[in-house]
Amino acid sequence: MNPSQKTGPTDTVLRKAGRGDLLPIARGNAMSAGACDNAFDDCDRAAVYRAIFTRRDIRSDFVSEPIDDAVLARLIRAAHHAPSVGFMQPWNFIVIRDMGRREKVRDLFLSARMQEEAKIAEDRKELYRRLRLEGICESALNICITCDRDRANGSPLGRWHNPEMDLFSTVCAVQNFWLAARAEGVGVGWVSILDQSALKALLDIPDHVVPVAYLCVGRVSDFAPVPELQRKNWRQRLPLADLVMSECFGVSSDNSLARAIDGLAEDWPGS
Ligand SMILES: Cc1cc2nc3c(=O)[nH]c(=O)nc-3n(C[C@H](O)[C@H](O)[C@H](O)COP(=O)(O)O)c2cc1C
Repeated sequence: MNPSQKTGPTDTVLRKAGRGDLLPIARGNAMSAGACDNAFDDCDRAAVYRAIFTRRDIRSDFVSEPIDDAVLARLIRAAHHAPSVGFMQPWNFIVIRDMGRREKVRDLFLSARMQEEAKIAEDRKELYRRLRLEGICESALNICITCDRDRANGSPLGRWHNPEMDLFSTVCAVQNFWLAARAEGVGVGWVSILDQSALKALLDIPDHVVPVAYLCVGRVSDFAPVPELQRKNWRQRLPLADLVMSECFGVSSDNSLARAIDGLAEDWPGS
C-alpha cells in the first residue's frame, strides 16, 4: 500500500477539504487502500474536484485587496506547467496593472460589445444588456496570456497536421491558471469580447503572437455556486449523459457508463 494514501475517517477528509457539508468523493465512498497506487488520497482528490466545481468566471464582486506577488507567481507557475504540444510552451504572460491602459481595454470591450449586441436575437437583447461581461477596471490586475506561434519554428512536433495545437496548449495554461487561482481564493474572469487587432496594438503584441486570453484577476467577496449565465437564464448546463457517445459520433454511450453518469452525486451545487 502506498503510505501516502490515507484512508482516514470520512469526516476528517471532509473537514480537511473545508466543505464538510458537500464533499463528494469521501461521502461514504472513500477510496479503498491500495486500490490505485497512483491516485491522490481522498482529501487531495476532493480538493482537486473542489477547485474544478467551484471555479467561476468572475466579473463582479472584486474587492479592493491587491494580489500578493508571491500568489501571482504561483498562479503563473501553475500555468507554465500546463501540457503543450511538443513541449513547446508557447505562452507569455503580460501583467497589466496600469489603470490608463486598462481603461483603454475597457473601451475596446464597450465597442466590441455594441457590435456583438447587434448580432444577438431580438428577444434576448434585453437580457444580454443586463449581463455583466467584464471586470477590467474593478479587478486588482489584468493578465493577457499569449501564444507565440513561432516559438518552435522548424520543430513542428505534433503541429504538422494540426498547426492550431499551440493555441490549444495555451488554453490549457489558462485553465491551470484559473484552477490554481480558485484554490488561492482569487477570482478570474475571461474577457473575449475584444477586437483582437486593437488589443494587440494596445499591448504592443507582435504579429506572430496571438492574445489567447485577456483575464481580469482579483480577490473576490464571493464565488457564486453556479455560473452567472445559468443564474440569469442565459443558458443551462447540458445533461452530461447526452454528450457522451460510444465508439462513433452520434452513438449514445453504453449503458453501464450512462448509469454511472446518472449515479453521480451532486457533489457541489449544479455539478
Ligand atoms: C474562451 C472563453 C471566453 C469567455 N469570454 C467571456 C467574456 O467575454 N465575458 C464573460 O462574461 N465571460 C466570458 N467567459 C466565461 C463564460 O461565460 C463562463 O465560463 C461560462 O458562463 C460558465 O461559467 P463559469 O466559468 O463560472 O463556470 C468566457 C469563457 C471562455 C472559456
